[in-house]
Amino acid sequence: MKALILSGGHGTRLRPLTYSQQKQLIPVANKPVLFYAIEDVIEAGVHNIGIIVGPNKEQVINAVKSVDWDANIEFIYQGEPLGLAHAIKVARDYLGDDDFVMYLGDNILREGIVKHLEHFKKGDFDASILLCEVPNPQQFGVAELSEDGKTIKRLVEKPKIPPSNLALVGIYFFKPIVHEAVENIKPSWRNELEITDAIQWLIDHGYKVGWTKVENWWKDTGKPEDILDANRLILDDIKREIKVKTKAKILGRVIVEEGTEIDENTVIKGPAIIGKNCKLKNAYIGPYTSIGDNCVIENTEIEDSIIMDGTVVNCGGRIVESLIGKEVKIMERNQHPIGRKLVLGDRSQVIL
Ligand code: TTP
Repeated sequence: MKALILSGGHGTRLRPLTYSQQKQLIPVANKPVLFYAIEDVIEAGVHNIGIIVGPNKEQVINAVKSVDWDANIEFIYQGEPLGLAHAIKVARDYLGDDDFVMYLGDNILREGIVKHLEHFKKGDFDASILLCEVPNPQQFGVAELSEDGKTIKRLVEKPKIPPSNLALVGIYFFKPIVHEAVENIKPSWRNELEITDAIQWLIDHGYKVGWTKVENWWKDTGKPEDILDANRLILDDIKREIKVKTKAKILGRVIVEEGTEIDENTVIKGPAIIGKNCKLKNAYIGPYTSIGDNCVIENTEIEDSIIMDGTVVNCGGRIVESLIGKEVKIMERNQHPIGRKLVLGDRSQVIL
């Protein structure tokens, strides 16, 4: 068994962050989204992992190599992000004739994949997919089940009238027959080789496609609000761990990493995580906030937000529901003319 984790793609819905940063490296509770996928795969006993890299490939390779994983990890370059099934095509040599799990590197699954992999192995399926009940199936790829409910009959992309409320999760198990499926499908209207078409090809040619239901939460972190949501869900599970000495008022489940200085006028209310070597002065850090390493937060209230490494905030105001990249500076203007002074990259969003 091998794993193929996808960490390519342009991540256009996450611009401007993804102009400089591959989306799977965006931190959720101070850990790159991609690492949750790698951990899940290793936990399921899969130790041969191929990671698809595309734009910003050096970043992904360096980030993954910075950790001592209990796995053999190889990187496979996808020149153009031409679809999820295209990624399988690019990884054809790496995958050989092994079964594999394909895991989209921007998906987070609370329960991991252990039981889902077991079902795939026991059921003698040619492929098996994960489905999650959603209130808005119109916005997802949706599955129609067979009469006995055990296999998949049809997959429909963003249906106006959904055949079920079971959305396709970004984790799939395949036998090598999927390579034949991938060879036989054509690019879609958006010029991508779609994984749903490859799975539908398997169904139409009499292969057995099973499924398992996701019981806990699942998050596809494709958009800023999804990343903040994933941050909330992960922070909900953390345990209190304060690794520094401070007289600050720290309430509830809060993690503070080494080297961080917090003055006595600061209040932190969990769940929240503060990275290494930060300086917090006269600040309020509210629930569901993740602050990366080497940040300075002064005279500011921050709540329900992600602040990435090296960012400095000293604005005397209150920041909520925000996703702020690396080495950003947010300062208060204390000279005339009074007004907002902004230097923003393309496609930035500011709500004042
Ligand atoms: P998408 O969310 O469709 O990724 P995207 O990068 O195209 O995003 P956007 O729509 O915002 O532009 O893809 C799901 C995952 O698969 C994501 O982790 C990126 C990855 N991916 C690849 O590795 N190769 C590809 O060819 C594609 C389309 C996606």
